[in-house]
Amino acid sequence: MTVPDTRFDVTIAGEINLDLVLDGIPEPMPVERELLASAFRITLGSSAAILAHNLSALGTRVGFASLAARDEFSKMAMAYLAARNVDLSGIKYSDGPAGSGVTVVVNHGPVRHILSYLGTAGEMTGAHLDIDYLCSARHFHLSSLFLLKGLHKDLPSLFKAIRLRGLTISLDTNDDPDDAWAGVLDELLPLIDVLLPNERELLRITKTESIDAALAAVSRKVPLTVVKRGAKGAIIQQGDMRHIVPAIDVVPVDTIGAGDSFNAGFLACYVRGLPPAECAAMGNLTGAVSTMKPGGIEAFRDREFLRKSFAELAPGAAVLEALFPRRA
Ligand SMILES: Nc1ncnc2c1ncn2[C@@H]1O[C@H](COP(=O)(O)OP(=O)(O)OP(=O)(O)O)[C@@H](O)[C@H]1O
Ligand SMILES: [Mg+2]
Repeated sequence: MTVPDTRFDVTIAGEINLDLVLDGIPEPMPVERELLASAFRITLGSSAAILAHNLSALGTRVGFASLAARDEFSKMAMAYLAARNVDLSGIKYSDGPAGSGVTVVVNHGPVRHILSYLGTAGEMTGAHLDIDYLCSARHFHLSSLFLLKGLHKDLPSLFKAIRLRGLTISLDTNDDPDDAWAGVLDELLPLIDVLLPNERELLRITKTESIDAALAAVSRKVPLTVVKRGAKGAIIQQGDMRHIVPAIDVVPVDTIGAGDSFNAGFLACYVRGLPPAECAAMGNLTGAVSTMKPGGIEAFRDREFLRKSFAELAPGAAVLEALFPRRA
């Protein structure tokens, strides 16, 4: 094992795309009709990019690796990351026909349709990732495993190489659109340090029907699992130890990106060496704050809003003082 180069705290590999959000569309949606939205906005989407943005907003040094298209959508998406000082030199460009991925969110009030096109993320292979770049950090994170199918065959050897270089690794699979929850995942679980699923995903990953059984099963494979449970907060399983970490009480405006924002708070503390329960408490705070504004990154674009929300929702949390001065 070599001493890692720590140009970054965290490197992230994954997809980058915009979210196009339409509000107020009727449900059911009749076909062949012109349906008018009450509002429209464009913001940064995709789990990996939202995490990179929000983690960097918390004063963590973030390097981002992806395969981007050479089009206006990818320029816009990258501008959001550049504005938060995320390093983009790990991004490679595709000359293939795919173009940028996109997610169209159709809000019908309390329920929504989420329509996604993978774009270049579907073309990404191990050849697009520079191992030296990924390893110039203390920690590596992979998001959206099941969307990045082109990477699968290269991931076990990549994870092994990253571990040998002394980094810790976290994985948030997010959903599996095929609902298979198999394949490369079984090879990766023994190679990671932290798994960050939501409750439903953990049940599917472990093929169990109760959270107790799921936590027991996963603890035999992964040293630390942190389960996101929406308004119920989080549960940590580390070996035989289990902690319930309560949520922060907020009135959500929009929960898109709450899971990625939880990951941001969690990892910001994890790379600073804080114990898992404190990392998860921070995750609950950043997850909750993310729900207070529409979209995955809005709450993290406004430093004053972030500071004020943290002060109101978690007064006196010493860790917050530690998080902010880094890039004051
Ligand atoms: N209504 C809420 N009230 C308080 N906190 C919330 C609420 N919804 C989400 N959170 C916080 O955000 C975290 C992540 O949310 P959630 O469990 O929905 O993750 P997820 O399903 O992975 O989300 P995503 O769809 O972004 O991937 C929760 O563990 C909690 O800390
Ligand atoms: Mg998630």
